[in-house]
Amino acid sequence: MEPRSCLAIVLAAGEGTRMRSARPKVLHTIAGRSLLDHVLSAVAEADTSSAAIVVGPGQDAVAAEAKRVLPGASCFVQHERKGTAHAVLAAKSAIDQHPDDIIIVYGDTPLIRPETLMRLRAPLAAGAAVAVLAFRPADPKGYGRLIIEGGQLIAIREEADASAAERAITLCNAGMMALAGKSALAILERIGNHNCKGEFYLTDAVEIARGMKLSTVAVEVEEDDVRGINTKKELAEAEAVAQQRLRQAALDAGVTLIAPETVFLSADTKFGKDVVVEPYVVFGEKVSVADGAVIHSFSHLVGAEVGKGVSVGPFARLRPGTKLGEGARIGNFVEVKESTVEAGAKANHLSYIGDAFVGAEANVGAGTITCNYDGSAKHRTTIGKNAFIGSNSALVAPVEIGEGAYVGSGSVITGNVPPDSLALARGRQVVKEGWASRLRALKSMGKKKAQARD
Ligand code: UD1
Ligand code: CA
Repeated sequence: MEPRSCLAIVLAAGEGTRMRSARPKVLHTIAGRSLLDHVLSAVAEADTSSAAIVVGPGQDAVAAEAKRVLPGASCFVQHERKGTAHAVLAAKSAIDQHPDDIIIVYGDTPLIRPETLMRLRAPLAAGAAVAVLAFRPADPKGYGRLIIEGGQLIAIREEADASAAERAITLCNAGMMALAGKSALAILERIGNHNCKGEFYLTDAVEIARGMKLSTVAVEVEEDDVRGINTKKELAEAEAVAQQRLRQAALDAGVTLIAPETVFLSADTKFGKDVVVEPYVVFGEKVSVADGAVIHSFSHLVGAEVGKGVSVGPFARLRPGTKLGEGARIGNFVEVKESTVEAGAKANHLSYIGDAFVGAEANVGAGTITCNYDGSAKHRTTIGKNAFIGSNSALVAPVEIGEGAYVGSGSVITGNVPPDSLALARGRQVVKEGWASRLRALKSMGKKKAQARD
Protein backbone atom coordinates (compact mmCIF):
# COMPACT_ATOMS: atom_id res chain seq x y z
CA MET A 1 0.00 0.00 0.00
CA GLU A 2 1.17 3.55 -0.80
CA PRO A 3 2.14 5.49 2.32
CA ARG A 4 -0.45 8.16 3.10
CA SER A 5 0.64 11.76 2.58
CA CYS A 6 0.15 13.97 5.60
CA LEU A 7 0.02 17.74 6.04
CA ALA A 8 0.69 19.09 9.53
CA ILE A 9 -0.87 22.45 10.35
CA VAL A 10 0.76 24.12 13.33
CA LEU A 11 -1.28 26.88 15.00
CA ALA A 12 1.04 29.45 16.50
CA ALA A 13 -0.84 32.72 16.22
CA GLY A 14 -1.07 33.35 19.97
CA GLU A 15 0.84 36.25 21.48
CA GLY A 16 1.04 34.63 24.89
CA THR A 17 0.45 37.73 26.98
CA ARG A 18 0.28 35.65 30.16
CA MET A 19 3.96 34.79 29.77
CA ARG A 20 4.67 38.44 30.70
CA SER A 21 7.45 38.55 28.16
CA ALA A 22 8.44 40.50 25.06
CA ARG A 23 9.17 37.19 23.36
CA PRO A 24 6.38 35.40 21.41
CA LYS A 25 5.13 32.46 23.44
CA VAL A 26 6.23 29.67 21.09
CA LEU A 27 9.82 30.98 21.07
CA HIS A 28 10.30 30.31 24.77
CA THR A 29 12.46 27.25 25.34
CA ILE A 30 12.42 23.99 27.21
CA ALA A 31 15.41 21.62 27.22
CA GLY A 32 17.30 24.17 25.13
CA ARG A 33 14.84 24.25 22.22
CA SER A 34 11.96 26.55 21.39
CA LEU A 35 8.45 25.25 21.99
CA LEU A 36 7.89 25.52 18.24
CA ASP A 37 11.05 23.48 17.56
CA HIS A 38 9.78 20.69 19.84
CA VAL A 39 6.42 20.61 18.05
CA LEU A 40 7.90 20.77 14.54
CA SER A 41 10.49 18.10 15.38
CA ALA A 42 7.71 15.80 16.62
CA VAL A 43 5.72 16.55 13.46
CA ALA A 44 8.74 15.79 11.26
CA GLU A 45 9.23 12.43 12.98
CA ALA A 46 5.57 11.46 12.62
CA ASP A 47 5.79 10.50 8.94
CA THR A 48 4.35 13.80 7.73
CA SER A 49 5.07 15.02 4.22
CA SER A 50 4.54 18.78 4.58
CA ALA A 51 4.03 21.37 7.27
CA ALA A 52 2.16 24.68 7.36
CA ILE A 53 2.65 27.13 10.21
CA VAL A 54 -0.01 29.71 11.02
CA VAL A 55 1.38 32.81 12.72
CA GLY A 56 -0.12 36.11 13.81
CA PRO A 57 0.46 39.42 12.05
CA GLY A 58 4.02 40.71 12.51
CA GLN A 59 5.28 37.42 13.97
CA ASP A 60 8.23 37.23 11.60
CA ALA A 61 10.47 35.80 14.31
CA VAL A 62 8.09 32.85 14.71
CA ALA A 63 8.03 32.25 10.95
CA ALA A 64 11.84 32.44 10.88
CA GLU A 65 12.13 29.85 13.66
CA ALA A 66 9.76 27.55 11.77
CA LYS A 67 11.94 27.88 8.64
CA ARG A 68 15.08 27.23 10.67
CA VAL A 69 13.70 23.97 12.04
CA LEU A 70 11.85 22.83 8.91
CA PRO A 71 13.16 24.72 5.87
CA GLY A 72 10.44 23.19 3.72
CA ALA A 73 7.60 24.46 5.91
CA SER A 74 5.21 27.07 4.52
CA CYS A 75 4.07 29.97 6.68
CA PHE A 76 0.64 31.60 6.70
CA VAL A 77 -0.58 34.68 8.52
CA GLN A 78 -3.93 34.69 10.29
CA HIS A 79 -4.66 38.41 10.10
CA GLU A 80 -7.47 38.46 12.64
CA ARG A 81 -7.83 36.10 15.55
CA LYS A 82 -11.24 34.57 14.92
CA GLY A 83 -10.83 31.08 16.38
CA THR A 84 -9.08 27.80 15.84
CA ALA A 85 -11.03 26.76 12.71
CA HIS A 86 -10.41 30.20 11.18
CA ALA A 87 -6.69 29.76 11.94
CA VAL A 88 -6.65 26.35 10.19
CA LEU A 89 -8.26 27.89 7.11
CA ALA A 90 -5.44 30.44 6.90
CA ALA A 91 -3.52 27.46 5.51
CA LYS A 92 -6.24 26.67 2.96
CA SER A 93 -3.86 26.65 0.01
CA ALA A 94 -1.87 23.86 1.72
CA ILE A 95 -5.09 21.90 2.32
CA ASP A 96 -5.91 22.38 -1.39
CA GLN A 97 -2.88 20.19 -2.21
CA HIS A 98 -5.05 17.15 -1.34
CA PRO A 99 -3.06 15.48 1.42
CA ASP A 100 -4.48 12.10 2.50
CA ASP A 101 -4.29 13.12 6.16
CA ILE A 102 -4.15 16.45 7.96
CA ILE A 103 -3.00 16.79 11.54
CA ILE A 104 -3.58 20.00 13.44
CA VAL A 105 -1.23 20.73 16.33
CA TYR A 106 -0.59 23.72 18.59
CA GLY A 107 2.75 25.53 18.73
CA ASP A 108 2.43 25.91 22.50
CA THR A 109 2.10 22.18 23.24
CA PRO A 110 5.74 21.09 23.09
CA LEU A 111 5.61 17.70 24.81
CA ILE A 112 3.64 16.05 22.05
CA ARG A 113 5.55 12.96 20.89
CA PRO A 114 5.77 11.59 17.35
CA GLU A 115 4.27 8.28 18.48
CA THR A 116 1.26 10.15 19.88
CA LEU A 117 0.75 11.95 16.56
CA MET A 118 0.95 8.59 14.78
CA ARG A 119 -1.72 7.22 17.13
CA LEU A 120 -3.88 10.27 16.33
CA ARG A 121 -3.49 9.64 12.60
CA ALA A 122 -4.08 5.90 12.71
CA PRO A 123 -7.95 6.03 12.69
CA LEU A 124 -7.89 7.99 9.41
CA ALA A 125 -6.31 5.06 7.59
CA ALA A 126 -9.19 2.97 8.99
CA GLY A 127 -11.79 5.32 7.50
CA ALA A 128 -12.45 7.96 10.18
CA ALA A 129 -12.97 11.56 9.00
CA VAL A 130 -12.06 13.20 12.31
CA ALA A 131 -9.86 11.97 15.17
CA VAL A 132 -9.50 14.02 18.33
CA LEU A 133 -6.77 13.77 20.97
CA ALA A 134 -8.45 13.34 24.34
CA PHE A 135 -7.15 13.31 27.91
CA ARG A 136 -8.36 13.43 31.48
CA PRO A 137 -6.71 16.46 33.06
CA ALA A 138 -6.28 16.76 36.80
CA ASP A 139 -8.40 19.92 36.46
CA PRO A 140 -10.75 20.00 33.43
CA LYS A 141 -11.50 23.71 33.82
CA GLY A 142 -11.23 25.66 30.56
CA TYR A 143 -11.08 22.64 28.26
CA GLY A 144 -13.63 21.52 25.70
CA ARG A 145 -15.50 18.38 26.87
CA LEU A 146 -15.88 15.26 24.73
CA ILE A 147 -19.44 14.04 24.47
CA ILE A 148 -19.50 10.29 23.93
CA GLU A 149 -22.70 8.35 23.29
CA GLY A 150 -22.81 4.61 22.81
CA GLY A 151 -19.02 4.56 22.68
CA GLN A 152 -19.02 7.11 19.82
CA LEU A 153 -17.64 10.64 19.91
CA ILE A 154 -20.55 12.81 18.85
CA ALA A 155 -19.52 16.36 19.79
CA ILE A 156 -17.05 18.59 21.61
CA ARG A 157 -18.54 21.26 23.80
CA GLU A 158 -16.47 24.31 24.74
CA GLU A 159 -16.71 25.06 28.45
CA ALA A 160 -18.30 28.46 27.88
CA ASP A 161 -21.08 26.81 25.89
CA ALA A 162 -21.49 23.66 28.02
CA SER A 163 -24.44 22.74 30.27
CA ALA A 164 -23.78 21.82 33.90
CA ALA A 165 -24.08 18.12 33.01
CA GLU A 166 -21.62 18.53 30.14
CA ARG A 167 -19.16 20.34 32.39
CA ALA A 168 -19.16 17.32 34.69
CA ILE A 169 -17.55 15.28 31.89
CA THR A 170 -13.88 14.59 32.67
CA LEU A 171 -12.75 13.52 29.18
CA CYS A 172 -11.39 16.68 27.56
CA ASN A 173 -10.22 17.93 24.19
CA ALA A 174 -6.45 18.28 24.03
CA GLY A 175 -6.94 20.51 20.98
CA MET A 176 -5.01 18.44 18.47
CA MET A 177 -7.00 16.83 15.73
CA ALA A 178 -6.56 14.72 12.62
CA LEU A 179 -8.80 15.19 9.57
CA ALA A 180 -9.09 12.99 6.51
CA GLY A 181 -7.93 15.14 3.60
CA LYS A 182 -10.83 14.28 1.32
CA SER A 183 -13.53 15.66 3.63
CA ALA A 184 -11.50 18.28 5.54
CA LEU A 185 -12.38 21.37 3.55
CA ALA A 186 -16.06 20.48 3.31
CA ILE A 187 -16.14 20.18 7.10
CA LEU A 188 -13.98 23.23 7.88
CA GLU A 189 -15.94 25.52 5.58
CA ARG A 190 -19.21 24.60 7.30
CA ILE A 191 -17.98 25.72 10.70
CA GLY A 192 -19.84 28.84 11.85
CA ASN A 193 -19.33 31.21 14.75
CA HIS A 194 -22.68 30.95 16.55
CA ASN A 195 -21.33 30.46 20.07
CA CYS A 196 -20.58 32.41 23.23
CA LYS A 197 -17.28 33.78 21.95
CA GLY A 198 -18.39 34.41 18.36
CA GLU A 199 -15.35 32.38 17.21
CA PHE A 200 -14.96 29.74 14.52
CA TYR A 201 -14.37 26.67 16.68
CA LEU A 202 -12.35 23.80 15.21
CA THR A 203 -14.12 21.60 17.74
CA ASP A 204 -17.36 21.94 15.76
CA ALA A 205 -15.73 19.69 13.13
CA VAL A 206 -16.97 16.67 15.10
CA GLU A 207 -20.70 17.48 15.02
CA ILE A 208 -20.50 18.60 11.40
CA ALA A 209 -18.77 15.37 10.36
CA ARG A 210 -21.45 13.36 12.20
CA GLY A 211 -24.09 15.33 10.32
CA MET A 212 -22.35 14.30 7.08
CA LYS A 213 -22.55 10.65 8.21
CA LEU A 214 -18.78 10.49 8.62
CA SER A 215 -17.07 8.70 11.45
CA THR A 216 -15.37 10.52 14.33
CA VAL A 217 -13.21 9.06 17.09
CA ALA A 218 -11.39 10.10 20.25
CA VAL A 219 -7.85 8.91 20.97
CA GLU A 220 -7.06 9.13 24.68
CA VAL A 221 -3.50 10.02 25.73
CA GLU A 222 -1.62 11.01 28.88
CA GLU A 223 -1.82 14.56 30.13
CA ASP A 224 1.95 15.10 29.83
CA ASP A 225 1.80 14.75 26.05
CA VAL A 226 -0.70 17.52 25.62
CA ARG A 227 0.28 20.09 28.23
CA GLY A 228 -0.31 23.53 26.73
CA ILE A 229 1.80 26.42 27.91
CA ASN A 230 0.31 29.80 28.77
CA THR A 231 2.34 30.91 31.79
CA LYS A 232 5.90 30.72 33.11
CA LYS A 233 4.67 28.25 35.72
CA GLU A 234 3.40 25.93 32.98
CA LEU A 235 6.68 26.45 31.12
CA ALA A 236 8.58 25.26 34.20
CA GLU A 237 6.25 22.26 34.59
CA ALA A 238 6.80 21.30 30.95
CA GLU A 239 10.57 21.68 31.45
CA ALA A 240 10.36 19.22 34.34
CA VAL A 241 8.54 16.67 32.17
CA ALA A 242 11.01 17.18 29.31
CA GLN A 243 13.98 16.71 31.68
CA GLN A 244 12.39 13.58 33.11
CA ARG A 245 12.05 12.11 29.62
CA LEU A 246 15.61 13.03 28.61
CA ARG A 247 17.07 11.51 31.80
CA GLN A 248 15.07 8.35 31.26
CA ALA A 249 16.27 8.13 27.64
CA ALA A 250 19.89 8.63 28.76
CA LEU A 251 19.55 5.91 31.41
CA ASP A 252 17.89 3.58 28.89
CA ALA A 253 20.83 4.19 26.53
CA GLY A 254 23.25 3.12 29.26
CA VAL A 255 24.50 6.43 30.65
CA THR A 256 25.26 6.28 34.36
CA LEU A 257 23.51 9.20 36.06
CA ILE A 258 24.31 8.92 39.75
CA ALA A 259 21.56 11.37 40.75
CA PRO A 260 19.43 11.77 37.61
CA GLU A 261 17.14 14.40 39.13
CA THR A 262 20.13 16.78 39.49
CA VAL A 263 21.33 16.51 35.89
CA PHE A 264 19.87 18.89 33.29
CA LEU A 265 20.01 17.93 29.64
CA SER A 266 19.22 19.45 26.27
CA ALA A 267 17.06 17.81 23.68
CA ASP A 268 20.18 17.38 21.50
CA THR A 269 22.64 16.09 24.16
CA LYS A 270 24.49 13.03 22.81
CA PHE A 271 26.16 10.33 24.88
CA GLY A 272 28.41 7.43 23.93
CA LYS A 273 28.74 4.18 25.87
CA ASP A 274 29.83 3.93 29.50
CA VAL A 275 29.61 7.63 30.20
CA VAL A 276 29.33 8.61 33.86
CA VAL A 277 27.69 11.87 34.88
CA GLU A 278 28.05 12.80 38.52
CA PRO A 279 25.40 14.80 40.41
CA TYR A 280 24.67 18.43 39.53
CA VAL A 281 25.75 18.81 35.94
CA VAL A 282 24.11 21.08 33.33
CA PHE A 283 24.25 20.23 29.62
CA GLY A 284 23.31 23.19 27.42
CA GLU A 285 22.76 22.90 23.70
CA LYS A 286 25.03 21.02 21.29
CA VAL A 287 27.05 18.83 23.62
CA SER A 288 28.31 15.37 22.75
CA VAL A 289 30.10 13.10 25.19
CA ALA A 290 32.01 10.11 23.79
CA ASP A 291 32.50 6.64 25.24
CA GLY A 292 33.94 6.28 28.70
CA ALA A 293 34.04 9.98 29.55
CA VAL A 294 33.32 11.12 33.10
CA ILE A 295 31.65 14.44 33.83
CA HIS A 296 32.25 15.28 37.47
CA SER A 297 29.90 17.28 39.66
CA PHE A 298 29.00 20.94 39.19
CA SER A 299 30.18 21.19 35.62
CA HIS A 300 28.44 23.32 32.98
CA LEU A 301 28.79 22.35 29.31
CA VAL A 302 27.53 24.14 26.19
CA GLY A 303 28.53 23.51 22.57
CA ALA A 304 31.30 21.07 23.51
CA GLU A 305 32.61 17.85 21.99
CA VAL A 306 33.95 15.68 24.77
CA GLY A 307 36.16 12.86 23.46
CA LYS A 308 36.58 9.28 24.58
CA GLY A 309 37.70 8.73 28.15
CA VAL A 310 37.91 12.45 28.90
CA SER A 311 37.54 13.67 32.46
CA VAL A 312 35.74 16.98 33.00
CA GLY A 313 35.37 18.77 36.33
CA PRO A 314 34.37 18.93 39.08
CA PHE A 315 33.47 22.61 38.63
CA ALA A 316 34.51 22.86 34.97
CA ARG A 317 32.95 25.15 32.41
CA LEU A 318 33.02 24.13 28.75
CA ARG A 319 31.77 26.83 26.39
CA PRO A 320 30.89 26.68 22.67
CA GLY A 321 33.63 25.57 20.33
CA THR A 322 35.34 23.30 22.87
CA LYS A 323 36.78 20.06 21.48
CA LEU A 324 38.47 17.67 23.89
CA GLY A 325 40.51 14.82 22.40
CA GLU A 326 40.70 11.30 23.74
CA GLY A 327 41.82 11.07 27.34
CA ALA A 328 42.18 14.82 27.85
CA ARG A 329 41.62 16.12 31.37
CA ILE A 330 39.92 19.37 32.26
CA GLY A 331 39.90 19.76 36.01
CA ASN A 332 38.39 21.96 38.67
CA PHE A 333 37.72 25.63 37.98
CA VAL A 334 38.90 25.39 34.40
CA GLU A 335 37.03 27.26 31.65
CA VAL A 336 37.49 26.31 28.00
CA LYS A 337 36.05 28.27 25.07
CA GLU A 338 36.50 27.94 21.28
CA SER A 339 39.53 25.71 21.82
CA THR A 340 40.79 22.31 20.86
CA VAL A 341 42.55 20.30 23.54
CA GLU A 342 44.15 17.29 21.89
CA ALA A 343 44.45 13.73 23.15
CA GLY A 344 46.02 13.30 26.55
CA ALA A 345 46.51 17.01 27.20
CA LYS A 346 45.71 18.29 30.69
CA ALA A 347 44.55 21.48 32.33
CA ASN A 348 43.77 20.24 35.78
CA HIS A 349 43.32 23.35 37.89
CA LEU A 350 42.12 26.96 37.77
CA SER A 351 42.71 27.88 34.13
CA TYR A 352 41.17 29.85 31.28
CA ILE A 353 41.75 28.39 27.84
CA GLY A 354 40.11 30.56 25.18
CA ASP A 355 40.68 30.65 21.40
CA ALA A 356 43.48 28.16 21.83
CA PHE A 357 44.94 24.96 20.47
CA VAL A 358 46.54 22.67 23.03
CA GLY A 359 48.58 19.89 21.44
CA ALA A 360 48.54 16.25 22.49
CA GLU A 361 49.94 15.43 25.93
CA ALA A 362 50.67 19.07 26.71
CA ASN A 363 50.39 20.08 30.35
CA VAL A 364 48.79 23.38 31.21
CA GLY A 365 49.75 24.20 34.79
CA ALA A 366 47.46 25.47 37.52
CA GLY A 367 46.34 29.04 37.08
CA THR A 368 47.44 29.40 33.45
CA ILE A 369 45.49 32.01 31.52
CA THR A 370 45.34 32.55 27.78
CA CYS A 371 44.97 36.32 27.45
CA ASN A 372 42.91 36.13 24.29
CA TYR A 373 41.26 39.56 24.34
CA ASP A 374 43.01 42.89 23.94
CA GLY A 375 39.92 44.98 24.52
CA SER A 376 38.81 44.99 20.91
CA ALA A 377 39.75 41.71 19.21
CA LYS A 378 40.26 38.06 20.13
CA HIS A 379 43.58 36.34 19.36
CA ARG A 380 44.73 32.74 19.28
CA THR A 381 47.15 30.84 21.46
CA THR A 382 48.83 27.71 20.15
CA ILE A 383 50.50 25.29 22.53
CA GLY A 384 52.48 22.57 20.78
CA LYS A 385 52.27 18.93 21.71
CA ASN A 386 54.15 17.82 24.82
CA ALA A 387 54.67 21.44 25.89
CA PHE A 388 54.71 22.20 29.60
CA ILE A 389 53.24 25.47 30.81
CA GLY A 390 54.33 26.27 34.36
CA SER A 391 51.72 27.29 36.89
CA ASN A 392 50.28 30.77 36.95
CA SER A 393 51.53 31.76 33.52
CA ALA A 394 49.82 34.31 31.31
CA LEU A 395 50.03 33.57 27.58
CA VAL A 396 49.35 36.85 25.81
CA ALA A 397 47.80 36.05 22.43
CA PRO A 398 48.55 35.92 19.58
CA VAL A 399 51.32 33.63 20.72
CA GLU A 400 52.74 30.22 19.91
CA ILE A 401 54.46 27.84 22.30
CA GLY A 402 56.47 25.32 20.30
CA GLU A 403 56.27 21.56 20.68
CA GLY A 404 57.97 20.23 23.75
CA ALA A 405 58.81 23.72 25.05
CA TYR A 406 58.74 24.71 28.71
CA VAL A 407 57.35 27.91 30.16
CA GLY A 408 58.58 28.74 33.64
CA SER A 409 55.96 29.25 36.33
CA GLY A 410 54.61 32.74 36.71
CA SER A 411 55.72 33.85 33.26
CA VAL A 412 53.96 36.48 31.20
CA ILE A 413 54.64 35.23 27.67
CA THR A 414 54.28 37.88 25.00
CA GLY A 415 56.45 36.39 22.24
CA ASN A 416 56.60 33.01 20.52
CA VAL A 417 58.55 30.24 22.26
CA PRO A 418 60.55 27.93 19.94
CA PRO A 419 60.11 24.15 20.21
CA ASP A 420 62.02 22.37 22.99
CA SER A 421 63.19 25.63 24.59
CA LEU A 422 62.56 27.16 28.02
CA ALA A 423 60.95 30.58 28.30
CA LEU A 424 61.11 32.55 31.53
CA ALA A 425 59.38 35.88 31.70
CA ARG A 426 59.21 37.04 35.30
CA GLY A 427 61.22 39.04 37.81
CA ARG A 428 64.49 37.34 38.76
CA GLN A 429 64.55 36.06 42.34
CA VAL A 430 66.64 38.09 44.79
CA VAL A 431 67.80 36.48 48.07
CA LYS A 432 69.21 38.56 50.95
CA GLU A 433 70.67 36.16 53.49
CA GLY A 434 70.05 36.97 57.17
CA TRP A 435 67.68 39.80 56.23
CA ALA A 436 64.72 38.46 58.23
CA SER A 437 66.61 37.89 61.44
CA ARG A 438 68.12 41.40 61.19
CA LEU A 439 64.60 42.78 60.83
CA ARG A 440 63.39 40.86 63.88
CA ALA A 441 66.37 42.08 65.91
CA LEU A 442 65.61 45.69 64.98
CA LYS A 443 61.95 45.23 65.91
CA SER A 444 62.74 43.76 69.34
CA MET A 445 65.17 46.64 70.08
CA GLY A 446 62.38 49.09 69.30
CA LYS A 447 60.10 47.25 71.74
CA LYS A 448 62.68 47.38 74.58
CA LYS A 449 63.06 51.16 74.08
CA ALA A 450 59.31 51.61 74.25
CA GLN A 451 59.13 49.54 77.49
CA ALA A 452 61.95 51.64 79.03
CA ARG A 453 59.98 54.82 78.39
CA ASP A 454 56.81 53.47 80.15
C1 UD1 B 1 -8.91 24.95 22.52
C2 UD1 B 1 -10.09 24.06 22.17
C3 UD1 B 1 -10.54 23.32 23.44
C4 UD1 B 1 -9.39 22.53 23.99
C5 UD1 B 1 -8.18 23.44 24.25
C6 UD1 B 1 -6.97 22.62 24.62
C7 UD1 B 1 -11.28 25.18 20.37
C8 UD1 B 1 -12.46 26.00 20.02
N1 UD1 B 1 -11.17 24.87 21.66
O1 UD1 B 1 -9.40 25.92 23.43
O2 UD1 B 1 -11.61 22.45 23.16
O3 UD1 B 1 -9.78 21.89 25.20
O4 UD1 B 1 -7.85 24.16 23.05
O5 UD1 B 1 -5.92 23.45 24.96
O6 UD1 B 1 -10.55 24.80 19.50
N2 UD1 B 1 -5.17 29.94 17.75
C9 UD1 B 1 -4.87 30.63 16.60
N3 UD1 B 1 -5.78 31.50 16.11
C10 UD1 B 1 -6.99 31.71 16.71
C11 UD1 B 1 -7.28 31.01 17.90
C12 UD1 B 1 -6.34 30.13 18.38
O7 UD1 B 1 -3.80 30.45 16.03
O8 UD1 B 1 -7.76 32.52 16.19
C13 UD1 B 1 -4.18 28.99 18.27
C14 UD1 B 1 -3.59 29.47 19.58
O9 UD1 B 1 -2.39 30.20 19.38
C15 UD1 B 1 -3.31 28.17 20.30
C16 UD1 B 1 -4.38 27.24 19.77
O10 UD1 B 1 -4.83 27.79 18.56
O11 UD1 B 1 -2.05 27.63 19.95
C17 UD1 B 1 -5.54 27.07 20.75
O12 UD1 B 1 -6.15 28.30 20.95
P1 UD1 B 1 -6.74 28.75 22.37
O13 UD1 B 1 -7.33 30.07 22.24
O14 UD1 B 1 -5.71 28.54 23.41
O15 UD1 B 1 -7.89 27.68 22.52
P2 UD1 B 1 -8.61 27.26 23.85
O16 UD1 B 1 -9.65 28.26 24.18
O17 UD1 B 1 -7.62 26.92 24.87
CA1 CA C 1 -5.36 27.24 25.28
